Amino acid sequence: MHAQSAVEGSDHSDLYDGLSAKPLSIPSKYFYDDLGSALFDEICDLPEYYLTRTELALLERTSAEIARITQPAEVLELGSGTARKTRTLLDAVVKECGEPSYVPVDISGFALETVAETLEANFPALEVEGVLCDYTESLAPVRPGPECLSLFLGSTIGNFVHAGGVGLLSSLRSRFDCPGWFLLGVDLVKPVEILEAAYNDTRGVTEQFNKNILNAVNRAVGGDFDPGDFDHLAFFNDEQSQIELHLVAKRPVDARLDDLDLEVSLDRGEAILTEISRKFTRDTAEGMLVESGFSPERWFPSTDDAFALALARAAGADVLDAG
Ligand code: AVJ
Repeated sequence: MHAQSAVEGSDHSDLYDGLSAKPLSIPSKYFYDDLGSALFDEICDLPEYYLTRTELALLERTSAEIARITQPAEVLELGSGTARKTRTLLDAVVKECGEPSYVPVDISGFALETVAETLEANFPALEVEGVLCDYTESLAPVRPGPECLSLFLGSTIGNFVHAGGVGLLSSLRSRFDCPGWFLLGVDLVKPVEILEAAYNDTRGVTEQFNKNILNAVNRAVGGDFDPGDFDHLAFFNDEQSQIELHLVAKRPVDARLDDLDLEVSLDRGEAILTEISRKFTRDTAEGMLVESGFSPERWFPSTDDAFALALARAAGADVLDAG
């Protein structure tokens, strides 16, 4: 069965822009159709993909302290996916200050349905209020309540170029009516071999995930891309401090996207950029938070310095507007 996705309601103008300009690109949010969401869950279990298990171990070690500092009445999570990691934090919050409400926000209806099911088993009294929304388009449906702890985990912020990330975080910050907290998960700069292995797994799941974006695009806008015409390419761009995922044409490609009224032509060897995944340092991560109007309060690195959680304060809109 096909669950609803928030990309279905959009006019796909960002997709049109990416495929009508050179170099070609496809917004990363198109990865997450039902199959793409399931493939991403599989990626999280790969031995090479250290991000998820490192962040989970970090949350297990720091959740009690984060709950003690933030004392949230509400936990709101942008890009919750299936919220596998969030349980740890919710557990700690329940122990520290009672049952909060939980608001997962995601582009995938499939992921939101899974969240509700898995959390119900663990937290029978927890109020889960999922929001199906494309937060890259608008945060209008997202309203952090009083004493809210907002989460943006999994290094999803890495999918945004600097200006886009600051734009998203600033608009999140401006939606805090009352003072609250923000917890950001970031992947850190590390040796290139480790970074590149995480996006070139030997089982080829990341390759499948990357190519599946073309199926998702075909379905979204009546396209006829053949994923078999492309090779998976992932490498670390040192200058930009980001992993890049590309799809490289194995032969000349002509695709037609009916609903966009667009023809896309690629030469052999020409690439479509499907994702950037930025790698941060403490300075670049906290700098981005400051630029977005948050006050960094605590920095929690994993024991191996592979990943970090940055905890920041969000003053209420009134407080900030008053200067
Ligand atoms: C979900 C954006 C954090 O950038 O590592 C995993 C997505 N892409 N393997 C990441 C992804 C290829 C992932 N994020």
